[in-house]
Amino acid sequence: MEAQKILEWYIEAGVDETIGESPIDYFLLSQEKQKTPSIPVVEAVSKQALPQSRPATIASSTPTPVISNNARDLCDKCSSLNELRTALEAFDECSLKLTATNLVFGEGNPNAKLMIIGEAPGAEEDKSGQPFVGKSGQLLTKMLKSINIERKDVYISNILPWRPPGNRKPTIEETAICLPFIQKHIDLVSPDILLLLGGSSASSLCNTSDGISQIRGKKLNYTTSNGKEIIAIPTFHPAYLLRTPAQKAKIWQDLLNIKSILN
Ligand code: URA
Repeated sequence: MEAQKILEWYIEAGVDETIGESPIDYFLLSQEKQKTPSIPVVEAVSKQALPQSRPATIASSTPTPVISNNARDLCDKCSSLNELRTALEAFDECSLKLTATNLVFGEGNPNAKLMIIGEAPGAEEDKSGQPFVGKSGQLLTKMLKSINIERKDVYISNILPWRPPGNRKPTIEETAICLPFIQKHIDLVSPDILLLLGGSSASSLCNTSDGISQIRGKKLNYTTSNGKEIIAIPTFHPAYLLRTPAQKAKIWQDLLNIKSILN
């Protein structure tokens, strides 16, 4: 009973994941971090957070993002979505896999003209293995409906295929490690338009350091590995809209824009 009460207390406080066997003194680590000179690259990218950003773990203090050649090699060998899923299932270089319940690969029409890319799975997605099935996902489905697009007709995935514990912001390293997979995912679906939900999705794929409020609604360019030019439109993440409904008018403009391009 005692142990159960402690667990219930943790869950009520929002602590719903175990991520290690031994405790880490984050106060000590953050003091050490303050002593280290700041590294411009890390700062520039971390400004890409959603309008109300959640803190990343201490891993973001590592200076150089690691891009795994292994991930690129694995992706190069994939010529179908099934092969890409199998490659991701076997990929062990991103530690998020250790705390996630399921891989959230992506779903929808593999021949879709519109591909939607979010940041990373949340709790509901982690449980089900499907992208955008929680509250943000329900809003996304409604947003698509508002322009007469059915969810089954688009393809939906995320920059990261595993849930960051407690929905924290993914670190630069985690994003860099997994990037080849979403790039290959885009190559294989080969849509005409990418709808990028939130600042991290836009900055990871379009190589921009501007914040989401500045680039929202702009037509950016994404080039696949085989040279296809795709229109990429960044917009606010539905999770942000749930917190800030006053911004809905802006996303409505972006949706109308997408609809007219598709037509
Ligand atoms: N937020 C995301 O960015 N992706 C999901 O799949 C769910 C919530």
